[in-house]
Order: sequence, then structure tokens, then C-alpha cells
Amino acid sequence: MHASAKSPGLPDLPAIQSLARPDMAAVDTLIRQRLASDVVLINQVAEYIIGAGGKRLRPMLLLLATGAVGRSVGEAIGKEAHQLAAVVEFIHTSTLLHDDVVDESDLRRGRRTANAVWGNAASVLVGDFLYSRSFQLMVELESMPVQKILADTTNRIAEGEVLQLLHVRNPDVDEAAYLRVIERKTAVLFAAATRLGALLAGASEAVQQQLHDYGLNLGYAFQIADDVLDYASDAETLGKNLGDDLAEGKATLPLIHAIRHADADTATRLRAAIEHGDTDALPDVLAAIQATGGLEYSRQRARDYADLAGQALKGLGDNEYVGALRGLAGYAVNRDH
Ligand code: IPE
Ligand code: IPE
Ligand code: MG
Ligand code: MG
Repeated sequence: MHASAKSPGLPDLPAIQSLARPDMAAVDTLIRQRLASDVVLINQVAEYIIGAGGKRLRPMLLLLATGAVGRSVGEAIGKEAHQLAAVVEFIHTSTLLHDDVVDESDLRRGRRTANAVWGNAASVLVGDFLYSRSFQLMVELESMPVQKILADTTNRIAEGEVLQLLHVRNPDVDEAAYLRVIERKTAVLFAAATRLGALLAGASEAVQQQLHDYGLNLGYAFQIADDVLDYASDAETLGKNLGDDLAEGKATLPLIHAIRHADADTATRLRAAIEHGDTDALPDVLAAIQATGGLEYSRQRARDYADLAGQALKGLGDNEYVGALRGLAGYAVNRDH
């Protein structure tokens, strides 16, 4: 994957970010303000992970979706959109704190993970703080439809994480099972972000559904790309360690493809590597993934979902926000971190 690859005629990430910059600056201010707690450890851990940056993709998606439905983001909508964008990023951050404990990861956003610095208990509990803080922010908006979307979404994310746990060290996980997990753990939050943007801007149910479908497919593409990067990037660029998925005994698409297409002996070794979460097997696993075209296959599947995301936007016209959403679909699969 090359960071520079971009689809002709579509804005690249810097152009999309500059379109969203004034709103994102407001979202960031709000995030910082609303992190606060008088419990010092909460401030330390939350500041640490949020201050490390991250791409802020989900809040940006919410804001772009608001613009994409053709309403100008007036002051009232703007304020609500900023608040909901912060909510979505808080939810995301809380899942990252939990995810790094479950995955026993020690690098995130180019820094040691919070669990590596403060331990598992602090990470889980501060993750819970961010989850519940996100719901405090959400209820301030006093919108039952918003509350329903976010309650359903967070519940599905939790299901996805548990489903994934059940699959750990299981070499029989196939592509369909993998897709069921990534829909819940990743895609539904993207879908909620874009649906909420449309809802806030007063879009019809049909248009909200289109934005939802865009976000869902983008989320699939994004997670498949993430799973490719876990085998195909370098830690410095990625800000995360490579091979985390194998170490965890997590069969992701490149490896699922390799198991299905390798010769019998190789398939047996790959299955054993998953069963044992064996990082020593990483070079062997990588060679098998390469020999079977597992990375190309996965990249193509990611592109397929990105195309579906683009198709979901049909009929929305072509204002610059719709263009930005199309650009992000390309970015999701071509990104290098
Ligand atoms: C990481 O999400 C978790 C996945 C769904 C792959 P991001 O790649 O959006 O993480 P940050 O927020 O930019 O660090
Ligand atoms: C995404 O899965 C986890 C969440 C949705 C929180 P990963 O385990 O692949 O995410 P990274 O690679 O640790 O960011
Ligand atoms: Mg992880
Ligand atoms: Mg990953």
C-alpha cells in the first residue's frame, strides 16, 4: 500500500482534513475540555492516549456526513455535531484502551500503550470512564434517536469484541466469521458516525440509511486494510507493532486466505501458529501469506468494500463534502497507517 496512491479527481487526506479543519479544531477543544476529572489518574491516562493524536477519522466522518446531505452546518447544528463527534471519538478511544489490554499490545499511536505504562486495571477502568463520559455528553443533546443509535452501536461493538475473543486461537475461523466480527467491532461505529451526521442535519430516513451504508462499508474496508498493515507495514510508520494479530492467535483475512490456499503441510503449520499464537512463526506465516497472494486478495476485498461505500453515496449530488467522503473511501484502503 502506498500513502501517495489516490484516485484521480478525488481529494486526498490533507485536502479532506483541511476541509474539516475548523470543525475538527472545535471538536478537539471540546474533547480536551470534557476529558477532565478530579481523579488524577483518569486525567493522566486519558490525556496520554488522546494527546498521542490518532487520525480522528470517526469524528471527521460525522462532520463530513453532515455537510454531505446538503445542509450548511449552521451554528446550532454545528454545536451539536461537534459534541457528537467528540462522543464518537471518546467511544473509539475507550475501545482502544480495552483492545490493547485484550490484545496485550504495547505500542499504540507511536507510544507505549496505556496498559504497558499503567497496567491493565488502569486501562480498563479509564476506558470505562471514557465510555460513560461519552454517554454523559450524548444525553445532553436530549435526542432519543441519537441515544438509540449510540446505545445499539456500543452494544454491538461489545458483542464484536467478545465474538472475536471466542475465535482466538481457532484456526477454523473462515472469511464469513471474520467478516461478522469486523462488522461489529469496527464497521458499526463508522456507520453510526455517518448516520448521526445525516440525522443531525435533518436528512430523511432514506438518506440517513445511505450514509449508514457508506460508513458500514467504509468500516469493513478500513479494518481489512488494518489487518493487512499488521503484516505489511513497519512499526515506526504504523505506530503499532506488527504481528500483533498472530501473537494474539487472531486469524485475520490475509492468514485465512493463506490457510485455504496453501499446500497441506504449510496449512498445518499455519494452523499451529494460530493455535499457539506463535510470533516465532511470523516469518514463515508471512512467506505463506505472500506465496498465496493473501495480501493482494485482502487489499482487493478492502477495495470492494470501499467501492460499495462509494456506491452508497449515489444520488447525493457532488458537493465538496460528498467528494471528501469518496476520497476517504480511497484513503481507507491506500493508507500506510
Ligand atoms: C484503530 O483505529 C482500530 C481499528 C479499527 C483498526 P484507527 O486506525 O482509527 O486508530 P487511531 O484513532 O487513528 O489511532
Ligand atoms: C480493532 O482491532 C479493535 C477495535 C475496534 C477497538 P485491532 O485489534 O486490529 O485494532 P488495532 O490494530 O489494535 O488498532
Ligand atoms: Mg488490537
Ligand atoms: Mg490491528
